[in-house]
Amino acid sequence: MNIHARKSYDTIDVVPMSSALGAEIRGVDLRTEMSDRQFGEIRQAFADHSVIVLRDQDLAPEHHIAFAQRWGTININRFFRAVDGHPQIAEVRKEPDQESNIGSSWHTDHSYDQVPAMGSVLYAREVPPLGGDTLFSSMYLAYESLSAGMKATLDGLKAWHSSRHTFGQAARSAESSQDGRIGNPDTATQDALHPVVITHPLSGRKALYVNSNFTLRFDGWTPEESAPLLDYLYQHGARPEFTLRLVWQAGTIAIWDNRATWHCALNDYHGHRRLMHRITIDGVPLS
Ligand code: SIN
Repeated sequence: MNIHARKSYDTIDVVPMSSALGAEIRGVDLRTEMSDRQFGEIRQAFADHSVIVLRDQDLAPEHHIAFAQRWGTININRFFRAVDGHPQIAEVRKEPDQESNIGSSWHTDHSYDQVPAMGSVLYAREVPPLGGDTLFSSMYLAYESLSAGMKATLDGLKAWHSSRHTFGQAARSAESSQDGRIGNPDTATQDALHPVVITHPLSGRKALYVNSNFTLRFDGWTPEESAPLLDYLYQHGARPEFTLRLVWQAGTIAIWDNRATWHCALNDYHGHRRLMHRITIDGVPLS
């Protein structure tokens, strides 16, 4: 399953979190200067495990930004409220009196962009006493476990992705879905076409690249024709054995790979605040 789980590292400890994906990185304090060697090992762990998690980090926004910048160019979020004075950091916030949360169904951030984001660096500032966990699922395993026949069907296909139905004009009236968003519907206009099966730019492994929030249909197929197969893939991709459940504590920071995973933020902590700071990193064109 997590075939790279036992690789050895010199400057960090890497502890796998599930058989499918995810690893905790130990021995790093993100407030201090990090050598290129150590960052190289963290990047390797990220390539190997798709989600990496560091605990007990006491970070100012400047530390969060500096760490995120090591991964690539920061993508300024056009839909979420930014942290005051730090446009690079988007707030993922749910207040005690709010009902809906951000990201509560399985999805991949930014698949609606022409060049989808590499990943996100999410820092937990305030978490509920229980609940508010995030689930991740491995799209490598989702792809690799399909039959040869299904792989052959999907391999040449492309699919259209969009943000219009979530962030665009049509979604504006759904007040509850606006919690924590700045509303910017005019920027939710470009649909994007991506391969249904991508070759991951870091690992070279094949991964399934459709998701239930943003994928509209297969290219050349109607939405109605696409729906049964997409629904099957959404159900398949969420199989428990492909997943990791991340339990946050204040001070936990996680980086996930959008090209190799889905994620889903559980909304099971009504009456409590959950405040996360998210920085998203630009990616490369997918093929
Ligand atoms: C997101 O979808 O980016 C939010 C994830 C989370 O709040 O756990």
